[in-house]
Amino acid sequence: MSQKTWGGRFEGGTDAQVEKFTESITFDRRLFQHDIRASRAHAAMLAEVGLISAAEADAIRSALDEIGSEIEAGKMEFSISLEDIHTHIERALIARLDDVGRKLHTGRSRNDQVITDVKLWVRDAIDDLDGLLVELQRAFVASAEREHGVVLPGYTHLQRAQPVLAAHYFLAYVEKFQRDRERLADCRKRVNILPLGAAALAGSSLPIDRESVRQKLGFDSIARNSLDVSSDRDFLLEFVFVLSMIATHLSGWAEEWVIWSTTEFNFLDLPDAFCTGSSIMPHKKNPDVLELTRGKTGRVIGALQGLFVLVKGLPLAYNRDLQEDKQALFDAYDTVGGCLAVAAPLVLQTKLRREVIVSRLEDGFLDATTLMESLISRGVPMRSAHEVVGKLVRQCEQKQCRLVDLPDAEFDQPGASGADIKKTLGVANALAAFKSYGSTAPSEVAKQLDEWKTRLGM
Ligand code: ARG
Repeated sequence: MSQKTWGGRFEGGTDAQVEKFTESITFDRRLFQHDIRASRAHAAMLAEVGLISAAEADAIRSALDEIGSEIEAGKMEFSISLEDIHTHIERALIARLDDVGRKLHTGRSRNDQVITDVKLWVRDAIDDLDGLLVELQRAFVASAEREHGVVLPGYTHLQRAQPVLAAHYFLAYVEKFQRDRERLADCRKRVNILPLGAAALAGSSLPIDRESVRQKLGFDSIARNSLDVSSDRDFLLEFVFVLSMIATHLSGWAEEWVIWSTTEFNFLDLPDAFCTGSSIMPHKKNPDVLELTRGKTGRVIGALQGLFVLVKGLPLAYNRDLQEDKQALFDAYDTVGGCLAVAAPLVLQTKLRREVIVSRLEDGFLDATTLMESLISRGVPMRSAHEVVGKLVRQCEQKQCRLVDLPDAEFDQPGASGADIKKTLGVANALAAFKSYGSTAPSEVAKQLDEWKTRLGM
């Protein structure tokens, strides 16, 4: 009998190069635990509906457990002639149980099997990622708390804009990663629909019970259309999209901190343990972890693009092209997981160089917009106030001074003395003036910080 699960129809063996070309065992072995889980549930269901006996189901399940432990212990010999993880496990089962093992594949196909395995795998991956994201959020919240009173220059276009509390800054990243967690949770809804039972593409003429399998594997519902199932990789693309989004958030943050750690900025004291040196320049301390985080994002986005190109022209239903989905999936997940694992401790251990930040805080007209808003409060129309302050800034640039250094008379307005108006100047006053919901107003930020601590169980 052929080693191939599909050997019956074939005379002669497969070309050695073709075996090498078509195999997926070198990468899909990673699904073995999920394959065994799904097979255990399938076997139990087959017994429930009388397609195999209860004793046969028991034998299959304990043999599957043994095979699982064997793979776990690195004792299974993988061979490309057995194509993929599904065939390896089934062959190992038949080697143990002979005809009983030959019954496991009743009412299913590798087409619905592989997608069930991948969905179970992605479901676990989503739960693991959520845990990593929570750790990162906690690190940002802890930094927000530690650096609470510090005022930072806020930037737009990487030009000094308005002052923000450091806590407000750190919490901005908490929000981004919260949206990523929500995206993951949403993606999980579509992952958690049972494919098994769709069989090759059309379902089965045997009395399989998909509801029983659904319950055993913890899926929320059952895929309605068997033809859709074996071609559906939407959930996988969605997941890799969320991974790309997480990587993109990490990349922006990494870029910011690369800039902030330069001598020119000098805002950050990066922990030695997260930096590396130069083999020639003895003074160097390079932010390699941040740079690699930024760099690896390219791989993740590349995986997403690769997946889109993979599926874009496929007719229904299963096509072997789809086997190529897994490397992109695994690589994107490993890459983002790796980035998150180093990001959280890096954030926790990085300190702001408060003295440096404070010493330059009055540079760059961080108080100009608040000055304009104080004129508006005194009845000056917004556009006129904008122009008045713009002209004052121009004067400062000519004289190489700050707004507060200009003579009081320059600030005079009908009904308000320049001296009075000038009292709103300076970064501390500008910061204290904020009021709106979601702004960097100290009371608002304190509220948000408290809320995040509660939400994240801190
Ligand atoms: N290794 C295959 C994959 O990952 C399993 C499904 C094979 N199905 C088939 N009809 N040849 O897609």
